[in-house]
Amino acid sequence: MESVDDAVRQLAADLLETMYAAKGVGLAATQVDVHRRVIVLDVSEERNQPMVFINPELLKAEGRGPGEEGCLSVPDVFEKVQRATHIRVRALGRDGEPFEMDADGLLAVCIQHEMDHLEGKLFVDYLSELKRQLIRRRLEKERKQRSTGRDTHASARSTATSGAATPGNSRPAL
Ligand code: NI
Repeated sequence: MESVDDAVRQLAADLLETMYAAKGVGLAATQVDVHRRVIVLDVSEERNQPMVFINPELLKAEGRGPGEEGCLSVPDVFEKVQRATHIRVRALGRDGEPFEMDADGLLAVCIQHEMDHLEGKLFVDYLSELKRQLIRRRLEKERKQRSTGRDTHASARSTATSGAATPGNSRPAL
Protein backbone atom coordinates (compact mmCIF):
# COMPACT_ATOMS: atom_id res chain seq x y z
CA MET A 1 0.00 0.00 0.00
CA GLU A 2 1.30 3.43 -0.92
CA SER A 3 1.72 5.74 2.01
CA VAL A 4 0.82 9.34 1.33
CA ASP A 5 3.89 11.43 2.00
CA ASP A 6 4.98 14.81 0.67
CA ALA A 7 6.53 13.18 -2.41
CA VAL A 8 3.21 11.56 -3.37
CA ARG A 9 1.31 14.79 -2.74
CA GLN A 10 3.80 16.67 -4.93
CA LEU A 11 3.48 13.98 -7.61
CA ALA A 12 -0.32 14.36 -7.57
CA ALA A 13 0.01 18.14 -7.90
CA ASP A 14 2.46 17.75 -10.80
CA LEU A 15 0.19 15.25 -12.52
CA LEU A 16 -2.79 17.60 -12.25
CA GLU A 17 -0.76 20.48 -13.63
CA THR A 18 0.44 18.36 -16.55
CA MET A 19 -3.06 17.04 -17.21
CA TYR A 20 -4.61 20.52 -17.30
CA ALA A 21 -1.78 21.85 -19.49
CA ALA A 22 -2.38 19.01 -21.96
CA LYS A 23 -6.16 19.58 -21.76
CA GLY A 24 -6.55 15.97 -20.76
CA VAL A 25 -9.28 14.53 -18.59
CA GLY A 26 -7.03 12.16 -16.69
CA LEU A 27 -3.42 11.20 -16.18
CA ALA A 28 -1.58 8.34 -14.49
CA ALA A 29 1.89 8.56 -12.92
CA THR A 30 3.03 5.85 -15.36
CA GLN A 31 2.47 8.28 -18.23
CA VAL A 32 5.16 10.59 -16.90
CA ASP A 33 7.37 7.57 -16.17
CA VAL A 34 6.88 7.62 -12.42
CA HIS A 35 6.10 4.14 -11.19
CA ARG A 36 3.84 4.89 -8.27
CA ARG A 37 0.16 4.07 -8.06
CA VAL A 38 -1.29 7.55 -8.45
CA ILE A 39 -3.93 8.75 -10.93
CA VAL A 40 -5.61 12.13 -11.32
CA LEU A 41 -8.80 13.12 -13.12
CA ASP A 42 -11.09 16.02 -13.81
CA VAL A 43 -14.23 15.17 -15.76
CA SER A 44 -16.00 18.47 -14.99
CA GLU A 45 -16.95 20.86 -17.78
CA GLU A 46 -15.45 23.75 -15.84
CA ARG A 47 -12.15 21.96 -15.25
CA ASN A 48 -12.29 22.83 -11.56
CA GLN A 49 -12.91 19.47 -9.88
CA PRO A 50 -9.53 17.77 -9.58
CA MET A 51 -9.63 14.23 -8.22
CA VAL A 52 -6.70 12.25 -6.88
CA PHE A 53 -6.69 8.48 -6.38
CA ILE A 54 -3.70 6.97 -4.64
CA ASN A 55 -3.42 3.19 -4.75
CA PRO A 56 -6.84 2.80 -6.42
CA GLU A 57 -8.58 -0.59 -6.31
CA LEU A 58 -11.75 -1.64 -8.10
CA LEU A 59 -14.22 -3.11 -5.62
CA LYS A 60 -17.00 -3.61 -8.13
CA ALA A 61 -17.30 -3.51 -11.93
CA GLU A 62 -20.73 -4.05 -13.46
CA GLY A 63 -22.38 -3.65 -16.83
CA ARG A 64 -20.57 -3.33 -20.08
CA GLY A 65 -20.77 -0.63 -22.71
CA PRO A 66 -18.77 1.21 -25.35
CA GLY A 67 -17.29 4.64 -24.91
CA GLU A 68 -14.97 6.61 -27.13
CA GLU A 69 -11.53 7.11 -25.61
CA GLY A 70 -8.34 8.88 -26.44
CA CYS A 71 -5.10 8.99 -24.52
CA LEU A 72 -2.43 11.61 -23.99
CA SER A 73 0.10 8.80 -24.55
CA VAL A 74 -1.41 7.88 -27.95
CA PRO A 75 -1.99 11.28 -29.55
CA ASP A 76 -4.92 11.89 -31.88
CA VAL A 77 -6.28 8.36 -31.73
CA PHE A 78 -9.89 7.94 -30.61
CA GLU A 79 -11.55 4.54 -30.55
CA LYS A 80 -14.52 2.88 -28.90
CA VAL A 81 -13.63 0.60 -26.00
CA GLN A 82 -15.94 -1.69 -24.03
CA ARG A 83 -15.72 -1.21 -20.28
CA ALA A 84 -17.71 -1.72 -17.13
CA THR A 85 -20.38 0.97 -16.87
CA HIS A 86 -20.73 1.01 -13.08
CA ILE A 87 -17.79 0.72 -10.76
CA ARG A 88 -16.93 1.18 -7.14
CA VAL A 89 -13.39 2.24 -6.38
CA ARG A 90 -11.40 2.49 -3.18
CA ALA A 91 -8.34 4.70 -2.90
CA LEU A 92 -6.43 7.00 -0.63
CA GLY A 93 -6.98 10.72 -1.03
CA ARG A 94 -4.33 13.42 -0.91
CA ASP A 95 -4.91 13.61 2.85
CA GLY A 96 -3.95 9.94 3.15
CA GLU A 97 -7.49 8.98 4.17
CA PRO A 98 -9.11 6.01 2.43
CA PHE A 99 -12.36 6.67 0.58
CA GLU A 100 -14.77 4.72 -1.60
CA MET A 101 -16.68 6.10 -4.55
CA ASP A 102 -19.28 4.85 -7.01
CA ALA A 103 -18.83 5.99 -10.58
CA ASP A 104 -20.55 5.58 -13.90
CA GLY A 105 -20.48 7.31 -17.28
CA LEU A 106 -17.35 9.21 -18.24
CA LEU A 107 -15.93 9.06 -14.72
CA ALA A 108 -16.12 5.25 -14.68
CA VAL A 109 -14.41 5.09 -18.07
CA CYS A 110 -11.65 7.47 -16.97
CA ILE A 111 -10.92 5.64 -13.72
CA GLN A 112 -10.64 2.30 -15.52
CA HIS A 113 -8.48 3.83 -18.27
CA GLU A 114 -6.09 5.44 -15.78
CA MET A 115 -5.94 2.31 -13.61
CA ASP A 116 -4.94 0.36 -16.73
CA HIS A 117 -2.01 2.76 -17.17
CA LEU A 118 -0.75 1.68 -13.74
CA GLU A 119 -0.56 -1.88 -15.13
CA GLY A 120 1.18 -0.71 -18.30
CA LYS A 121 -1.95 -1.23 -20.35
CA LEU A 122 -3.19 1.20 -23.01
CA PHE A 123 -6.72 1.51 -24.38
CA VAL A 124 -5.47 0.52 -27.82
CA ASP A 125 -4.57 -2.90 -26.32
CA TYR A 126 -8.33 -3.61 -26.35
CA LEU A 127 -8.55 -3.09 -30.11
CA SER A 128 -8.14 -5.68 -32.84
CA GLU A 129 -4.62 -6.49 -34.06
CA LEU A 130 -5.48 -4.91 -37.43
CA LYS A 131 -6.58 -1.66 -35.83
CA ARG A 132 -3.48 -1.58 -33.63
CA GLN A 133 -1.26 -2.04 -36.70
CA LEU A 134 -2.97 0.82 -38.52
CA ILE A 135 -2.53 3.08 -35.50
CA ARG A 136 1.14 2.08 -35.07
CA ARG A 137 1.83 2.85 -38.74
CA ARG A 138 0.13 6.22 -38.50
CA LEU A 139 1.98 7.22 -35.34
CA GLU A 140 5.28 6.05 -36.88
CA LYS A 141 4.62 8.14 -39.98
CA GLU A 142 3.79 11.20 -37.87
CA ARG A 143 6.95 10.71 -35.81
CA LYS A 144 9.05 10.61 -38.99
CA GLN A 145 7.38 13.71 -40.36
CA ARG A 146 8.05 15.53 -37.12
CA SER A 147 11.70 14.45 -36.94
CA THR A 148 12.40 15.56 -40.52
CA GLY A 149 10.66 18.87 -39.82
CA ARG A 150 8.52 18.51 -42.94
CA ASP A 151 5.36 18.90 -40.96
CA THR A 152 6.03 21.87 -38.72
CA HIS A 153 2.35 22.24 -37.92
CA ALA A 154 2.06 18.77 -36.41
CA SER A 155 2.49 19.85 -32.82
CA ALA A 156 0.15 22.81 -33.18
CA ARG A 157 -2.42 20.54 -34.74
CA SER A 158 -2.15 17.93 -32.04
CA THR A 159 -2.55 20.62 -29.38
CA ALA A 160 -5.69 21.82 -31.10
CA THR A 161 -7.02 18.28 -31.28
CA SER A 162 -6.42 17.46 -27.65
CA GLY A 163 -7.88 20.87 -26.82
CA ALA A 164 -11.08 19.67 -28.43
CA ALA A 165 -10.90 16.50 -26.38
CA THR A 166 -12.22 18.02 -23.18
CA PRO A 167 -15.35 16.63 -21.52
CA GLY A 168 -17.58 19.02 -23.45
CA ASN A 169 -17.36 16.72 -26.40
CA SER A 170 -17.39 12.98 -26.10
CA ARG A 171 -13.74 12.39 -26.91
CA PRO A 172 -11.80 12.45 -23.67
CA ALA A 173 -8.00 12.35 -23.79
CA LEU A 174 -6.97 10.33 -20.79
NI1 NI B 1 -4.33 7.35 -21.28
